[in-house]
Amino acid sequence: AGPRLALTPPMGWNSWNAWGLAVDEEKVVASAKTIVDKGLRDHGWASVNIDDGWEISTRDGVPLREADGRIKVNGKFPDMARLGRRLHDLGLKFGIYSSPGPATCGGYAGSYQNEASDARSYASWGVDYLKYDWCSYSTIAKNLDSPEELKKPFALMNEALQKVDRDIVYSLCQYGMGKVWEWGDQVGGQLWRTTGDISDSWDSMSKIGFSQVEGAPFAGPGHWNDPDMLVVGWVGWGPKLHPSRLTPDEQYTHLSLWSLLSAPLLIGCDLPRLDAFTLNLLTNDEVLAVDQDRLGKQATLRLKQGDFQIWVKELADGGRAIGVFNLGSETTAYTLDLKALGLAGSRTLRDLWRQKDVKVRTFKVPAHGVMLLKAKAAKSGQL
Ligand code: GLA
Repeated sequence: AGPRLALTPPMGWNSWNAWGLAVDEEKVVASAKTIVDKGLRDHGWASVNIDDGWEISTRDGVPLREADGRIKVNGKFPDMARLGRRLHDLGLKFGIYSSPGPATCGGYAGSYQNEASDARSYASWGVDYLKYDWCSYSTIAKNLDSPEELKKPFALMNEALQKVDRDIVYSLCQYGMGKVWEWGDQVGGQLWRTTGDISDSWDSMSKIGFSQVEGAPFAGPGHWNDPDMLVVGWVGWGPKLHPSRLTPDEQYTHLSLWSLLSAPLLIGCDLPRLDAFTLNLLTNDEVLAVDQDRLGKQATLRLKQGDFQIWVKELADGGRAIGVFNLGSETTAYTLDLKALGLAGSRTLRDLWRQKDVKVRTFKVPAHGVMLLKAKAAKSGQL
């Protein structure tokens, strides 16, 4: 049988980039309500994922588990089953976070030696998605150069997840160690982080995004490379919340590139502060359709010319999505040579951000900006 879960890249929200460890139930629900009220849910933004910070802290000096082994939550998340119901009642999915180590990266209780119990807790709370983050497992693993050692903790939790009567999307987080894309699906993962943490700077976003080359052949329905969350809107780990430092053009680049890469799309901002620009950015169905294309191919870098990079993604209808990225710091004209891309037969080019067909082949692309196009296949299906 083929894959059953995450047949297209997961879309939703994650608490980390906005709230860090200052996350609580009300903040999660406020973002979930915004997803519904602003119509984001209708564009496919379905999963509401709590990141680190819901578990009991290893610093509290109290036992981390009940007598029967069940994990304890902290005071900011008094009732996880209730939270699950609140999210499901909004028509959304419920995501959660843990670590295979004794502690999470933020110093909260991890799942080490309690994997089966935690998987049962998640299922009983109605969890639909688990991000499983390496963190303190470094103190357990004997040899980080051994793929078997890297796989072991993820395979263990996968076994536990397979034993519960609930479908839970499994997101591996270990920052790309040991070329995780080559084996992530062998340990049950539907997605895996390929790099370290993103932050809201051009340097961070572009270094991560434009380096996603090696994993491309391993992406497909049910198994995705994850270049980390979207740093748009208000981000900044709680007390330092601020509007993303990416310029508007850099944000178009961010969304375009992540969509070409068939990346999971997880909004990392405080959604109640959503402004009109960010809402527009996140609700362009022609752009999102590139990410969600059912063929599930990941774009590849096809041309590099000066400051320009041209990335091309094959689509299920025979067309191609083309990202013309200007990595330079001046607005520059670029003439697309469809022949050089092997797409000489394409009839129409469509500008996906503006949702308009275009006749010209020369585009002015702003600094750090993008022209995101779709080359439609000719009737014969040939490009
Ligand atoms: C790691 C992960 C982040 C986030 C934090 C939480 O740094 O890569 O995405 O989950 O841990 O502590």
